[in-house]
Amino acid sequence: MLKKTAIAATAISLSALSLSACGSDSDSGSGSGSGDDSITMGFAQVGAESGWRTANTKSIQDTAEQEGIELKFTDAQGKQENQIQAIRSYIQQKVDVIAFSPVVETGWDAVLQEAKAANIPVILTDRAVDSEDTSLYETFLGSDFVLEGEKAGQWLVDNAADADTNGDGAINVVQLEGTTGAAPALDRAEGFATVIETEPTIEVVATQTGDFTRDGGKQVMESFLQSEDGIDVVYAHNDDMGLGAIEAIEAAGMTPGEDVKIITVDAVKDGMTALSEGKINFIVECNPLLGPQLMDLAKQVVAGEEVEPRVVTEETTFTQEQAKEALPTREY
Ligand code: AHR
Repeated sequence: MLKKTAIAATAISLSALSLSACGSDSDSGSGSGSGDDSITMGFAQVGAESGWRTANTKSIQDTAEQEGIELKFTDAQGKQENQIQAIRSYIQQKVDVIAFSPVVETGWDAVLQEAKAANIPVILTDRAVDSEDTSLYETFLGSDFVLEGEKAGQWLVDNAADADTNGDGAINVVQLEGTTGAAPALDRAEGFATVIETEPTIEVVATQTGDFTRDGGKQVMESFLQSEDGIDVVYAHNDDMGLGAIEAIEAAGMTPGEDVKIITVDAVKDGMTALSEGKINFIVECNPLLGPQLMDLAKQVVAGEEVEPRVVTEETTFTQEQAKEALPTREY
């Protein structure tokens, strides 16, 4: 089954959405109603749950402005029903192209069929949908989340001896998962599990969602510290939850990065700062700066050009030393 993705961001409430059409009612070609060369994009963002999302939203808004693309933007506040409502509104408004980052993977076919019936092309960005019918969207631009999980797992396997902070021969990992049902949560768990299987001393002893937020990560970590003995490692599906876990570990009188090793995903500034300070041990990068590629793809699909069905973002990883070097010029 092919996977593709999408995301969205900013704080325009759905109730603020205008339902008026932006152009002619022509139903030939892709939705556009403006009658000129300008492009209108409707973008349904996930929310504002993390530093990553904030950077992603800014990249999309800034690039749209630079490229002269009119952007209609909604923040779904982490709710699938809000994203569906926003997409329906964009269909009614006859935008030229719709882009979104699905909160969760499933449950999109009906609204995507409505967009297809209206001849409005859809681009998934950041997160995939779990749909059999890949004709419902033009392309999926975003990271390989399974690979990100594999990179996190590989670092742990390579550093297993050092990660056994309790020195008992068993490496007990607690996992802070992203939003339940979201592509990055499912895929980062899968990639990590596949790689750590190769090292029998490593075991995920507890796993729970922290919803990609700092508060969520803190609360789940507090409860893990109560319920689990001998935690050696935290694997957090994003920096924000890892930063929340750091607060919980420090409040419990332990030293993050030493008493408990921490692996996260994203590499936003706050995460990279904690990594450079030794509070996080390893970060797998997930690049939020999708605006330029998204706007290029939008221009191509609106022009009726063929685009690659999957565009994968290039990403790296950071150790503590690499974070110190990268921080001064880090964009986000
Ligand atoms: O979909 C990308 C993920 O969503 C980021 O890793 C996380 O920080 C965000 O909330």
